[in-house]
Amino acid sequence: MEIIRSVSELKEKVAHLKADGRTVGLVPTMGALHAGHISLVDRARRENDAVVVSVFVNPTQFNNAKDLQTYPRTEEADCALLREAGVDIAFIPTVEEMYPTEDTRVFDLGEVAAVMEGPMRPGHFNGVAQVVSKLFSFVSPDRAYFGEKDFQQIAVIRRMVELEKFPVEIVDCPIKREDDGLAMSSRNVRLTPENRAVAPLIYKTLKKSVEWARDHSLEDTRRLVVDELNACPGLEVEYYEIVDPLTMQPLAEWSTPHNGCARGCVTCYCGDVRLIDNIKYER
Ligand code: PAJ
Repeated sequence: MEIIRSVSELKEKVAHLKADGRTVGLVPTMGALHAGHISLVDRARRENDAVVVSVFVNPTQFNNAKDLQTYPRTEEADCALLREAGVDIAFIPTVEEMYPTEDTRVFDLGEVAAVMEGPMRPGHFNGVAQVVSKLFSFVSPDRAYFGEKDFQQIAVIRRMVELEKFPVEIVDCPIKREDDGLAMSSRNVRLTPENRAVAPLIYKTLKKSVEWARDHSLEDTRRLVVDELNACPGLEVEYYEIVDPLTMQPLAEWSTPHNGCARGCVTCYCGDVRLIDNIKYER
């Protein structure tokens, strides 16, 4: 595995791969890698001749200075995991390398960014669009891999790709969970033992709500999740929305026509750690 820190070297190496007729898969990450990230890498490995993984804590997508400051950074362990997973190139730039000048681009992300994480984290999705569009322009990947853990992020990336007309296939990958159901996340290391003990209730409650949904209205199902989670000491729901899986718009009824299965998306504080998760309603 090559560790590359400069954009010019990255472009040069990728140009060589492409000149040899090799397909390239890209997995963008912010590091502090876990088995969830590696599941994306494994899929990219299976579907492409070469795999590039970026490891970059992108400052423009953090709307909270403390969150940026405390974001875990574990470069050595990340490189060991990536090497073991058979990655060809780990791209690990500095902030100056990614943003030699301020990125003032404002993406017209539209309705997919106007709900849930959009208003809760102003500027977050624009920052994600900035960094991912830079990565796409450096690597020109055939395919790029994103986790359903960040369900709304996938819709935002698809919108950015449509705006910028990148010829890339966006591949969404299922959520990888701990044995007790907690969605794997780089932020989980910040949970205290007490937080960690209650955190699995998030997924348990989502699963229960899928059963409940069989004979309850959408609004009753939404309320069940909010009320049950808020009743757990140590958990506090920021929002729970049941949305169309492509437009991200909240649904009023199960019968509302939508593009596939409705998705329930939750953001929940567990102590002072903000956790997100989601579930599919197959009815
Ligand atoms: P990060 O949180 O590091 O996640 C990188 C990718 O891994 C994302 O596509 C995310 O959805 C996926 N992922 C994280 N946890 C997962 C899990 N438990 N199961 C499956 N996939 C999981 O998301 C970002 O970084 C950034 O916003 C980024 C896209 C890199 C732009 O900076």
